Formats: sequence, C-alpha cells, structure tokens
Amino acid sequence: MARTVRLVPALLASVLTLAGCGGGVHGTPGGSGVRDPYFPKAGNGGYDVAHYALRLTYAPDAHHLTGTATVTARATQDLSAFNLDFEGLEVERVTVGGETARWNRAGQELTVRPHADIDRDDTFHVTVRYSGAPETVTDPDGSREGWLRTADGALALGEPTGSMTWFPGNHHPSDKAAYDVTVSVPQGLRAVSNGELRSERTARGRTTYRWHTGEPMASYLATLAIGRFDISHSRTPDGLPVYTAVDPAEAAASRPVLGRIPEVLRWAEKRFGPYPFSSTGAIVDRAADLGYALETQNRPVFPGAPDLTLLVHELAHQWYGDSVSPKSWRDMWLNEGFATYAEWLWEEDHGGKSAQETFDALYSGDSSDTEEAAESVWAFPPADPPSAARISEAPVYWRGAMVLQKVRQVVGDEKFWRILKGWAAAYRHGNADTADFTAYVEKQAPGEDFEGIWEDWLYGEGKPERP
Ligand code: ARG
Ligand code: ZN
Repeated sequence: MARTVRLVPALLASVLTLAGCGGGVHGTPGGSGVRDPYFPKAGNGGYDVAHYALRLTYAPDAHHLTGTATVTARATQDLSAFNLDFEGLEVERVTVGGETARWNRAGQELTVRPHADIDRDDTFHVTVRYSGAPETVTDPDGSREGWLRTADGALALGEPTGSMTWFPGNHHPSDKAAYDVTVSVPQGLRAVSNGELRSERTARGRTTYRWHTGEPMASYLATLAIGRFDISHSRTPDGLPVYTAVDPAEAAASRPVLGRIPEVLRWAEKRFGPYPFSSTGAIVDRAADLGYALETQNRPVFPGAPDLTLLVHELAHQWYGDSVSPKSWRDMWLNEGFATYAEWLWEEDHGGKSAQETFDALYSGDSSDTEEAAESVWAFPPADPPSAARISEAPVYWRGAMVLQKVRQVVGDEKFWRILKGWAAAYRHGNADTADFTAYVEKQAPGEDFEGIWEDWLYGEGKPERP
C-alpha cells in the first residue's frame, strides 16, 4: 500500500508507529540472505514469493537475452526496501506496483526501494526489465550451471545458485512459488521448461512458447532448454501428461529408456505415494562439460541418454527434493540420500541386490573400484557437510541412503514403507530439514531408540563402528 510520507523524520516515524498509527515511514529493509549455512547471500528476507511471470526472448546467435520478470510476493514485515538475487545481465527498469522504483546492485544482490513502503502481509508486484548476455557460473565444487550455451541454443540449470543468471528472484529453496514462463525464440527452435506447455505460436519468424508450473517450485529446479529437439508427448495409463524433449543426436539412445518413464512412475507411486506434480517427462541436451543430470521439476535434465538407474534417481527426486524440498543447502542429503535409496530399492524390487546387500557392500568397501572411493563415503557426516564445495559428495548420496537403511533395520519393512510414503505426504510441496526428518521417524516408531543412528550415521564423523 502507498502511504509513505518520505520526509518524515525517523524519530517522528517511530513515534507514530509506537502510537499505533499505521502510515508513514515504517518499514525497514528486508535481509540480503536467509542465513543459509553454505550460501549466506542466497535468498532474501522480508517477503515470500507466490508467483514468477517471466517473459524472455533469446537470440542464440547473438547470445542475447531480454527479459521481463514480474514477481508477486507477500511482505512478511513492513518493508522500506528488499533484495532480489540476480547475477550478470543489465537491469533496465524496476517497478513496484507499477511505479518506478529505485534500485542498485552489489554482486548478486539487487536492492529495490519502492516509491512507498510496503506493509507487512500486503501482496506486491515487482517487475524487472533486463537484458544482456547471461552467464555460466562455476559452483564451489567446480561444476557448471546457470546459463549454459549449447550447439543450437542454451540450457539453464540452477542447483544450487544458477537460476539467478537468468531471472531475478528469491533464489533459495525455502521460498517456492508457481511459474509462468513465456519464451520467444527464432522460428525452427524450441523452448522447453517445467510444467505444462500452454501454447505455441509462430509469427514474424519467432515462435513463442508458454509454460505453466502450478505446483510450488524451488527456483533451483527451474529449467529452460532452447534448441532443436525431438519432441514426444503422450500420457501414462493414469492420464499424466508425459513431455520429452531430446537432442536429436541423443534420440536413438534415449528413446528406449525414456519410454520407461510410465513404468518407473508406477513403481515409484507404489513405494513413495502419489506422484506430486501434474505432468512428467525429460529433457536430454548436450552442453559442454556438463557432467551431471538434474532433477528439474516435472522434467529432469540429462546431459545425454540416461541409463535406467539415473532415470530412477531423477524421477525419485520429484518426491524427495522437488515436492519435499530442503529448508537449506545443509539438508541436501534429504534429496540425494532418498534418490540414491530409490536406486537401491528399484534394484531390490527388480530381482537385483537387496538394499541391505548394497548397504553391506558399501560398508565393507567391496562396492567401489578403488579404496579411495570407498573411503570417501566416510569423509564427513551427511547432515553436516564441511563446506559448500562438498554438498554433492559421496557421504550426502551414499551415506545418506545408508541412514535410511539403518532406519529400515530398526523399524522393519512394513513401517519403513509407511515412513517413506508418510514423509513425502507430510511435507508434500513444502520444505523440511534434518530435525524434521528425525522427529518424523521418531513419531512413527515411538517405542524405538534412534539416538545411536542419528549420532553415528547422520551427525557423526568417521565410519560408524557397526554396520
Ligand atoms: N542433484 C543432481 C543429482 O543428483 C546433481 C547436481 C550436481 N551439481 C553440482 N553442483 N555438483 O541428480
Ligand atoms: Zn540426485
């Protein structure tokens, strides 16, 4: 609401506030971060985003992006200013509630000063117009994300912090929102994003694709793939839309495994409960030096034709990571431990090793090619990685999965299946941290003692003494 009297002295303003008068200069700046233990500048305080509307135009040859982002948010305090995370690109104009706002930039922080303070609980719209050459960023662990150029277009990936290279926002997993992404590309190319394709229109040499994501999405799971793709859309036997976009060079190798998406989802629903989103699919695209897949919402991205295990991993993330998202980057094991455990379970349910056998092989060091790889599992506790550079390392994946097997040992299969499903249901479309997880497990099995498991397997240094 616009009720600022800009020149009211601070003292008078606070007197007015003390007197219970709602108007005047009353807001304070929202924080420049949300105290993430590994990425302190990620996210921003003072508001909660409900919706992102992105209108983007990309010219691959010129490597030029123009964008208008309209962020709809609710203030969680009286705000005199607030930040958005945004890296690179040029900001041309910022408005709040349709009125020009002042702004300045320092590193990844775009600070916006609305013409009038925003009252706590008010919903406001901030629009940022921008353009330029979007950047690729290198993560603390050396991998590449952000805006990646491909032979025929681009691929945008955002774990953990790359999404701020292509749109301004509250780039922390704790603030999830709905998205409408409209992308215009030269005719002949396609733009593929999360959610469902609402329309596709060609005029004057450009095609515009409108994608809608209705379920809450953490910004690190937003993706955009621009280029030439073999497209297939179909439905699972349950009627869930399946949209896959595959780099033509990877099409032959990808088709058989992507054809198994409905089968993997049917199995996953049996194990994890109802699929949390309104569509599924996959994107296969080649970007130089991209050595990883990512569980982008609805539609995971693969750097080449995936094998079945990787498909299972990324689809399992739709429950664990995408629907139940981490509260901070310290909770990464809740994503990766579960997705790795899903690989073990798939194998167990399809005539391979049992999860216990996989656990035993890891514990004894028989499963890795080198002693070094076997040792890396014990490098640090999964619930407490030593630095931002290590949140995607072996203990987070494998030892995280081992924690789940330890829980299964204590509660038995029946209760364990209920815990897997119940966890996904209890925090569906929300956020959770390790303390939420341990509390949840303890509540499901009140008679059992998990202290030793949490101490040794989740939080403890070194290799636990007993498997
Ligand atoms: N979350 C992805 C997966 O396990 C891997 C992301 C790797 N990113 C990184 N910065 N190392 O499927
Ligand atoms: Zn993963």
